[in-house]
Amino acid sequence: MLSFEPLLGLLSLLLTLGVQGVATMRVSTYNLRYDSMPNNITVAQTLSALPDPLTPPTYYGAKGEQPWSTRRVKVYEHLNNAGVVLAGFQEALVRQVDDLATLFGDEWSWVGVGRDDGVAAGEFSPIFYKKSDIELISNDSFWLSNTPFEPSKYPNAGSFRICTATHLLLKTGPSGPVRFTYLNTHLDDQSDDERRLAASLMLVRARYEAYTTNGPVIITGDFNSPSTGTDSGAYQIITGQIPPEPVNATFAAKYAVPNGTLSDFTMLDLKAEVPREYVSGEYATYTGFGAPGDATDFTRIDFVYGGSNGKWTATGYHVGTSLTDDGVLASDHRPVFADITLH
Ligand SMILES: *[C@@H]1O[C@H](CO)[C@@H](O)[C@H](O)[C@H]1NC(C)=O
Ligand SMILES: *[C@@H]1O[C@H](CO)[C@@H](O)[C@H](O)[C@H]1NC(C)=O
Ligand SMILES: *[C@@H]1O[C@H](CO)[C@@H](O)[C@H](O)[C@H]1NC(C)=O
Ligand SMILES: *[C@@H]1O[C@H](CO)[C@@H](O)[C@H](O)[C@H]1NC(C)=O
Repeated sequence: MLSFEPLLGLLSLLLTLGVQGVATMRVSTYNLRYDSMPNNITVAQTLSALPDPLTPPTYYGAKGEQPWSTRRVKVYEHLNNAGVVLAGFQEALVRQVDDLATLFGDEWSWVGVGRDDGVAAGEFSPIFYKKSDIELISNDSFWLSNTPFEPSKYPNAGSFRICTATHLLLKTGPSGPVRFTYLNTHLDDQSDDERRLAASLMLVRARYEAYTTNGPVIITGDFNSPSTGTDSGAYQIITGQIPPEPVNATFAAKYAVPNGTLSDFTMLDLKAEVPREYVSGEYATYTGFGAPGDATDFTRIDFVYGGSNGKWTATGYHVGTSLTDDGVLASDHRPVFADITLH
């Protein structure tokens, strides 16, 4: 019998040396819409009440927003069916995190904290991952404010805003696992200044990770602002089109890189990095809960980015739909999927 121990030793040596394998994953980002109509219906009750799949629904009734207890199975179905192994969510209250953990089951795990207290209050920007494919190495959270290391709100922002940061290992690859950094976030809906500061903080952190890990850096998030126009400061900062804002000095010092290193580091919008024929689905990522055909709210505000230091190849990009034939929108956003090969 061969012993695996020498192999494991070799593996950890290779990881220590920064020698990586090659592996591909499907990642998603999905703003769930917070549980604005809470009830006490359990996941088990919802599952046992699912309609007969052979019976046609009443097509496309204009139903508007439905309770999370109705939407959650659809969220799960969309992602599970797509073969996602890494999922960043936004607007998840603790009940929604718990429900998704129940629906995804024991094969999955998750990290993240409530943004209002750093524990369980307020919305999470949680990161869910499939354990057969992804291993958690470490995680932390920081706030997108002037005091990033404590639960806090930027002046005049609508809400506390948080970024969930992880070091992960993508395990399934022909030549072994790949270590990478993954950040997931939700920027403010009311303050463009907050969004600009948030993008600046995330760029500082992402550059630091690119420098210290010498590996791929992926960011997903609802930026609450599009890629062009008067509100696009956060997008322009994170993609390097305009300079970042000064950030908290403690944060800047903690995540400093040697002077002159990666000074031109930015994040690239994966939608533009994928060959055109592999970019599919919808354009808008936010639709609101309007009736089908009511496009007044449609905008592209949910993004997937890869660090300009490389070590990744984006091979597919898809914006799904939240609408099903029964007229129910699983969320007022759509799920965004990216296929990323890490190396
Ligand atoms: C849910 O259950 C709790 C405890 O029984 C009850 O206090 C609350 O009113 C219920 N909420 C709703 C929306 O039914
Ligand atoms: C992830 O973060 C949570 C909350 O801070 C912490 O309790 C947990 O130990 C972390 N896990 C790892 C593997 O870093
Ligand atoms: C920077 O953030 C730290 C931790 O959140 C805080 O203690 C400090 O006061 C902040 N610095 C400034 C100048 O606000
Ligand atoms: C970094 O380099 C710039 C330009 O060369 C210089 O102005 C600045 O003082 C340097 N900063 C540090 C901390 O050495």
